[in-house]
Amino acid sequence: MTEAAFKAKTFIQQQKPNFTPKLGLILGSGLSEIANSLEDATTISYGDIPGFIQTTISGHAGVLSLGYLNGVPTVCLQGRKHYYEGFNDEAIKTYIRTLKLLGVDILFLTNAAGSLHQDVPAGSLMMITDHMNFQGHNPLIGPNDEAFGPRFFGMEEAYDVDLREILTSVAQDLSIHLTQGVYVSVLGPMFETPAEIRAFRSLGADAVGMSTVSEVIVARHCGLRIVAVSAITNLAAGMNNEALTHEDTLYHGQKAAIVLQKLIVGFTQELP
Ligand code: HPA
Repeated sequence: MTEAAFKAKTFIQQQKPNFTPKLGLILGSGLSEIANSLEDATTISYGDIPGFIQTTISGHAGVLSLGYLNGVPTVCLQGRKHYYEGFNDEAIKTYIRTLKLLGVDILFLTNAAGSLHQDVPAGSLMMITDHMNFQGHNPLIGPNDEAFGPRFFGMEEAYDVDLREILTSVAQDLSIHLTQGVYVSVLGPMFETPAEIRAFRSLGADAVGMSTVSEVIVARHCGLRIVAVSAITNLAAGMNNEALTHEDTLYHGQKAAIVLQKLIVGFTQELP
């Protein structure tokens, strides 16, 4: 069922023998620059890795890099699958489980998101404390693969409490303003309606995006510890008079990436 993850792991290990990444990084739209901080990097195109699927979205390079981030062996994914590209649970399960098989313990996810608060504008960073799945889908539907985790499992602390504490104190030390909140995932590809945004706000959501949640589900199933940050690229639909575009997402994502990069590097310094 998830043979692809084992094949991918073997292939990746052949490209960089004797390298065991402890940290996994998934870079969202416009956030690819962060991968350039890796030292002694080996980069592999998704097209060459068994079970990895080339991404179709601009701003997602579709490459996996292995290297050292501040001395921490790290594997970095530039490119992810979104359900609006067509449901592809196998692809998502494969790249997350490959990280697990490679030895990753902590998965740091990033994404671009719209803010549901006027006082959290484009350019802000939000640490995700919890999520709501409004994608109407779940990557673990179907037979369970016991090799990776149990059929039923809890999501109480999907976003690791200790890692959140570390990230919060790193942000303070670096004078980086890091808000916290609940991320709601939608299918996309269109942005939301103003009515949907009002509804999400009344339900307790703080930011909205089209990714991450399916990856967190697969990652928690196989026991990865999660820390996640949204780069706020816009106020959500109806909150101002500006029309939302993917270009704006990329532009503000790239700006946020500079600060996010500092935050991630600071985070690696504090890892045990
Ligand atoms: N909605 C959904 N996804 C997004 C947004 C948004 O406003 N901004 C960036 N990704």
